[in-house]
This record gives sequence, structure tokens and C-alpha cells, in this order.
Amino acid sequence: MPLNVTINGELADVSHIDPDTPLLWALRDHLGLVGTKYGCGIAQCGACTVWLDGSPARACQLPLGQLEGRSITTVEGLAGDALHPVQQAWVEHDVAQCGYCQAGQIMSAAALLARNPAPSEEDIDRAMAGNICRCGTYVRIRKAIQSASSAIHSGVAFFDPGEPGLEASPVDSMEVSL
Ligand code: FES
Ligand code: FES
Repeated sequence: MPLNVTINGELADVSHIDPDTPLLWALRDHLGLVGTKYGCGIAQCGACTVWLDGSPARACQLPLGQLEGRSITTVEGLAGDALHPVQQAWVEHDVAQCGYCQAGQIMSAAALLARNPAPSEEDIDRAMAGNICRCGTYVRIRKAIQSASSAIHSGVAFFDPGEPGLEASPVDSMEVSL
């Protein structure tokens, strides 16, 4: 049975993949999109965070067969012609340490700024609470998000929020575990 999912703006025929396969493994093992990482596999770490119809979701908990007609954005699809402001801020603040959690962190941060371009520290902490970093880069993550927010507001960074769902909270959307 045909199974069509839009991935990073392009319709992908994933009919050849077992529909019970979680999206994370479909991305990494079948589609060559290895930016999204496996951390825990049980919706606890956020390393596998992608956007599902514009809201952050955990790819390890999304069976492919339930994604017909849905739109997925991975970290590979975040940048346009230039780095996304969040990615740029990540570079400027040298956020990554081992880097393993960072794709998920960036996807959550970019989704936050799409729905709230001027988040408070509390907003940031709340939005990022589901993304664990074993290297403890949390202070740099917060600074980078604030920096990206400032760049967006000052016009230094062009920011097209694209399709992110403005209504869903990260917590709610991550509970779209299907
Ligand atoms: S791999 Fe940890 S939440 Fe998905
Ligand atoms: S940078 Fe190492 S786990 Fe986050």
C-alpha cells in the first residue's frame, strides 16, 4: 500500500519500509538522514526530535505507517540557503560538546522561536526540558537561543518560521507518541 510522507519539503515514497518501523529508523537506516540521533528509544531524551507538521515530536515513537500525509522536518531540512538563526547561534556560542544531543536540541529550539520569537528564560527552560544533554551544555544552549531571538528581532537573521504549528506546546506534541 502506498505510503507518502513529506520529508524536508519533498514527498517521499516510503512504501518499501515496514509501516511499523519507527520514523527514527526509517530516517537513519533507509533514507540516509542520520542527523537525527538515537538516544534512548523510549521518548525520554529528545535526541531524536524532529518536527511533525511543524511541532517537535520524538521520531523514536512515531510508527511510519501512521504518518501518511504528514510532514516531517529533520535537522537536515532546517537550513535554507543560509543556516537557520538557531544553527548560526549554535556556532557562535560553540554550544556542542560531544554533539550527540544537539540535533534534537536545535529542532526544539527552532520550534520554540517559531511560535515564540522572544522567549523568557522560563519559556526556554520549559520548551527545552525534554532534551537531555549528558555533557551539560544547558547554559550555552540558553544563551544561543537568546542570541538567535535577538538576531531575529534585530533583523540580522532572516527568519522564515515556515510551517511550525504555532499552537502546540512541545510537551503536548512530544506526547503525540502514536
Ligand atoms: S531516542 Fe530518546 S526520545 Fe527518542
Ligand atoms: S553535547 Fe554531548 S550529550 Fe549534549
